[in-house]
Amino acid sequence: MVGVYGNDFTAPDETAPRPATGDEPETFRALLEGEGRVEPRDDLPDAYRRTLVRQIAQHAHSEIIGMQPEGNWISRAPSLRRKAILMAKVQDEAGHGLYLYAAAETLGVDRADLLDQLHSGRQKYSSIFNYPTLTWADVGAIGWLVDGAAIVNQVPLCRCSYGPYARAMIRVCKEESFHQRQGFEILHTLSHGTPAQKAMAQDAVDRYWWPSLMMFGPPDDDSPNSAQSMAWGIKRFSNDDLRQRFVDMTVPQAEALGLTLPDPEIRWNDERGHYDFGEVDFTELFEVIKGNGPCNAERMAHRVRAHEDGAWVREAANAYADKQAARAGADVA
Ligand code: 3HC
Repeated sequence: MVGVYGNDFTAPDETAPRPATGDEPETFRALLEGEGRVEPRDDLPDAYRRTLVRQIAQHAHSEIIGMQPEGNWISRAPSLRRKAILMAKVQDEAGHGLYLYAAAETLGVDRADLLDQLHSGRQKYSSIFNYPTLTWADVGAIGWLVDGAAIVNQVPLCRCSYGPYARAMIRVCKEESFHQRQGFEILHTLSHGTPAQKAMAQDAVDRYWWPSLMMFGPPDDDSPNSAQSMAWGIKRFSNDDLRQRFVDMTVPQAEALGLTLPDPEIRWNDERGHYDFGEVDFTELFEVIKGNGPCNAERMAHRVRAHEDGAWVREAANAYADKQAARAGADVA
């Protein structure tokens, strides 16, 4: 089925009840039970607020760090058209980060503090951005697989119980859908090009397939946050369910591309109504999350440098805001 964002993604079961748990304000519980949206003005349990800040901040950091692997190819994109598209895409990721930091701020945290936590390693960002982009085909693989995985993970977040996050995700998902298609189109062009271009596309898919499956997080039995986040209607599906959806969506697309997914165990299982696939190496995921991926140090050093280089912009914006406030004060007086 072609889903709302134009991908082969079956919409989540929106009628599933959201159980509320624990010692929570009555109004909050009623909102969850009634499928209402929780808004910043509502009386929120502290743990719910903390979970949202953790997830939204990690998500925002992922968008911003995610600009780096692709930004690496802007100056080397093979044509002016490819360059313009890639620049627009990388710019979109910056915009996603901004919507998400703004959504986090509605929970009473400060964006500067969140960035500080990222820079000091106290908050995470997605494992996937710690892999290098070695060839132009990697830009295609990121669009097709990484943005494809992001869509599967994020479409259900449009129904997240917290209003500002859910609303931000609607636009993010629309843009991700465009990103996924541009990646597919890059790979389609390469896989129908010369033998060397096809080999480059296959190599990129070989390197990005397993890390893309890791984006969905640890297996359900090993996911400390899932049960509570699902009970609160923050996450609507478990990590393993979303991973399976992604495999089911992607296998036919790989066939259309004429590329092979690097997993000999992938085969349709009639009984389950899903594709079976091989075991993901979660030791690799945990190592990357701990900071031991191929590019963790490089990504963080670049991010901190960019933040320091941008200090003058923040200072200028603050000085301008102070001047405006002083003027407004003088007008009132
Ligand atoms: N990379 C880094 N850390 C990860 C991870 C990954 N792929 N998967 C899990 N983790 C971390 C979790 O954050 C958690 O650590 P914490 O408790 O310190 O926060 C720990 O591993 C255990 O995992 P859980 O499954 O218990 O954690 P969650 O319930 O938070 O689920 C998640 C993880 C599925 C990533 C969820 O947080 C989520 O859906 N987040 C929103 C989407 C998001 O952040 N996406 C980033 C992907 S890329 C992107 O958006 C950019 C786009 O342009 C491609």
